[in-house]
Amino acid sequence: MYTSILDHFKVEGNRLLFDGVDLLSIVEKYGTPIFIFSESRLKENAKFIQESFRKEYRETYIHYALKANSILSILKIFKDEGLKCEVSSTGELYKAIKAGFNPEDIIYNSPGKRVEDLYYAVKSRINCINVDSFYEMMLLNNIASELNLKVGISLRVVPEVMTPTLKTGISRSKFGFEIGELFKAYRLALELKNIDIKGIHAHIGSQISDLTSWENSSRTIVDIVNQLYNDLKIELDHINLGGGIPVDYTKTLVEEDNELPAYYKVKFDIHDIARTISTNLRRLKYDVKLYIEPGRSLVADACILLTRIVNFKERSSGEKWLIVDAGFNILPSARILRWYYPILNVSRIDEKHDTSFRIGGPLCDAEDVYHDVEGEENGFQKLPRYRRLPGKTSPGDVLAFLHTGAYGPEVMMNFNGMLRPPYLMILRNGDVKIIRRRDELDDLYRYEEF
Ligand SMILES: Cc1ncc(COP(=O)(O)O)c(C=O)c1O
Repeated sequence: MYTSILDHFKVEGNRLLFDGVDLLSIVEKYGTPIFIFSESRLKENAKFIQESFRKEYRETYIHYALKANSILSILKIFKDEGLKCEVSSTGELYKAIKAGFNPEDIIYNSPGKRVEDLYYAVKSRINCINVDSFYEMMLLNNIASELNLKVGISLRVVPEVMTPTLKTGISRSKFGFEIGELFKAYRLALELKNIDIKGIHAHIGSQISDLTSWENSSRTIVDIVNQLYNDLKIELDHINLGGGIPVDYTKTLVEEDNELPAYYKVKFDIHDIARTISTNLRRLKYDVKLYIEPGRSLVADACILLTRIVNFKERSSGEKWLIVDAGFNILPSARILRWYYPILNVSRIDEKHDTSFRIGGPLCDAEDVYHDVEGEENGFQKLPRYRRLPGKTSPGDVLAFLHTGAYGPEVMMNFNGMLRPPYLMILRNGDVKIIRRRDELDDLYRYEEF
């Protein structure tokens, strides 16, 4: 079943509702900035990705990547939807267990696991640790031997797939084994007494919307798995193709921003990605489970950020500037990765969004803007210069940034003495619940000795 995030919004007169809840009334009660999650949307995303893949390849197991957003209430929803999970630190493993995930449903990836992380993961008896180097494999075997346990492992490989976005699947990256050393690594794993070989893992990047990258990655892994069977008689339990399922960041209630760079306009279909992978999996010599580790695609469009305009200026050039109370302290990806979020004026939702504004955050830092300063200077601009909002947009108005549920809120910080905002969840029964409270001023020095 395909649903759209737009089904969750409704305009009633001059009010914008999200899952039936009037957004201005939320601002009146809780203030800004504030992140608002939809429980229904989180559940729909979980079902949609699981069904899309299982339709093509029955034995698919979705492992939610906690790094995209590890709020306990969100984890609990995914657990209840039958998802498993992927963690990348002791902290995430601790939170996953706290949220109720069964250790047998958890896998652990990281290029930098400390000795104490490995002890904790082995003792927790999780399903599988994705080993990143020869050094780590030996260390892990010693730890498991000391604990008198056998530990399930996958080997992370860089399949040398170039993607248009982040490149985590090539040997120039810091991750995993190169293809050329993989067989030596599996041979070593066969010899180690406390290691139980379970799978192979590759994660080629994030927001992978082109089918060629998925085709190249799944083809390479299937070839390796067949060769491991032929040469070493190794039968794996699973193939893990990592995360990277893309999100359509362009979906909005108003006309599409025609200044949007082509990078964001790519059309894709998750069914096509699933089909491309499963076509390759059908060439396997025996039955293997498919694991994937989506993060962003499960949470991004289930959340909006409400922010208030706090300042306005008009330059002599005629360029109009709006300053809002949400900056890269709570959406760092706008600065570092140049992610695009559609913006709506909630206070004037019934007015035409047709006037160009520059938008900046509140931080005393020139990079705290929602356009790409560096790109504009060197001609490779990734974000639109202007955002279109109603001509009368002014201080006091509330703006909604859509699709903000992934990564940004996870790495929010107190830079410039800013308080981190709360997270709210609109529950399926229409109730609104605080799932993370707003910082208080005393939180700013909570960990200091004074
Ligand atoms: C190993 C691994 N798996 C899964 C993910 C999740 O990726 P995405 O949020 O693009 O689905 C990441 C993201 O960095 C990752 O490093």
